[in-house]
Amino acid sequence: MFKKKTRVQMHLKEQPVPEGEHLLEVDDLKMYFHTQDGVVKAVDGVSYTLDRGETLGVVGESGSGKSVTHLTIMGLVDMPPGRIEGGDVRYRGQSLLKMSEEQMQDIRGNDIAMIFQDPMTSLNPVYTIGRQLGEGLRLHRGYSKEEALRRSVELLDMVGIPNPEQRVKDYPHQFSGGMRQRVIIAMALACDPDILIADEPTTALDVTIQAQIIELMREAQEKNGNAIVMITHDLGVVADVADKIMVMYAGHPVEFGPADQIFYHSSHPYTWGLIRSIPDPVMTEKHPLTPIKGNPPSLVRLPSGCAFSPRCPYATERCRTERPGRIEVAPGHYASCHFAADPGFVARNAPKTGHAAAGNAVGPKGGEA
Ligand SMILES: Nc1ncnc2c1ncn2[C@@H]1O[C@H](COP(=O)(O)OP(=O)(O)O)[C@@H](O)[C@H]1O
Ligand code: SF4
Ligand SMILES: [Mg+2]
Repeated sequence: MFKKKTRVQMHLKEQPVPEGEHLLEVDDLKMYFHTQDGVVKAVDGVSYTLDRGETLGVVGESGSGKSVTHLTIMGLVDMPPGRIEGGDVRYRGQSLLKMSEEQMQDIRGNDIAMIFQDPMTSLNPVYTIGRQLGEGLRLHRGYSKEEALRRSVELLDMVGIPNPEQRVKDYPHQFSGGMRQRVIIAMALACDPDILIADEPTTALDVTIQAQIIELMREAQEKNGNAIVMITHDLGVVADVADKIMVMYAGHPVEFGPADQIFYHSSHPYTWGLIRSIPDPVMTEKHPLTPIKGNPPSLVRLPSGCAFSPRCPYATERCRTERPGRIEVAPGHYASCHFAADPGFVARNAPKTGHAAAGNAVGPKGGEA
């Protein structure tokens, strides 16, 4: 049964962001897994900031540490085998890593909500949709059963489920995949979170439904002013929605910056590979679809030097021995490549589409298909 909360709620999201702080600041975060095979450096120095109303796109191939980074932020990684090896996560100026499990329970769902990568694990098959939608409201807001039910109907209506008064009584298996994903979004939005972390929310869905789901999250964001972290392995998915993009490779951000910089002035060979793999380019020119060759490295035995060097067409001896540092190539735009600051290297090798588009488009949101 639902337990009524008696302890004082934190309502961190109603407190102002302290002067000089961001809504969310991830600062050199490291999460390693200690396994029988060795130490898996799943998250190895991730940093970013996020402010209200912003959308951050987190992009990288499978296994690059996108999910573990955000599960760490939510305090949902099992420790052991996980261990935080360094860094911090501050939400409205307060360290989440220092909070108790009880404090984190107040924050999860209420201040920061996450849509998990596997949608089937997010819905319990034995409870009605209404009961599951109302759970957070009863827990965090102290809603009565009737209030929670009424709000659940509103939420279902908001995410475009027809006949919500009836559907609220249904069980998950009575919904299609796309409908279930809408329910999961409604569940994540139920308590008006300050930050919505959506981990590959559309990967299993067809293109039309993907677009509808993303539109839904944008509408809610316009209304509530919440921030969104949109995690995806497909750079194309965040082209229209992200304000900033973090590109991850082998547990580490290799490029970070404003979305238009990443699309039109990218300075990292791995990002170039991702841009060239977008099947339906948002850029103004056609380019041949060229997936990145090879596989991501083992996170137990990372290559020395630049982790991308075994797959990078431009790798030199230096790349194989010296790990590149973070270079600020433009204000707020960082790339970890030895040659990122060399305009000749970038001009010669970056996808022409991106750079050609820079002259006649204001950014990814203004680009033509
Ligand atoms: N509990 C765990 N124990 C050991 N390794 C793990 C565990 N959870 C995740 N990993 C490893 O961490 C790495 C990053 O995983 P993940 O964040 O899920 O990648 P992504 O979301 O980018 O696809 C992967 O190599 C994965 O195998
Ligand atoms: S540092 Fe070298 S190997 Fe790494 S991305 Fe740059 S050119 Fe490629
Ligand atoms: Mg993942």
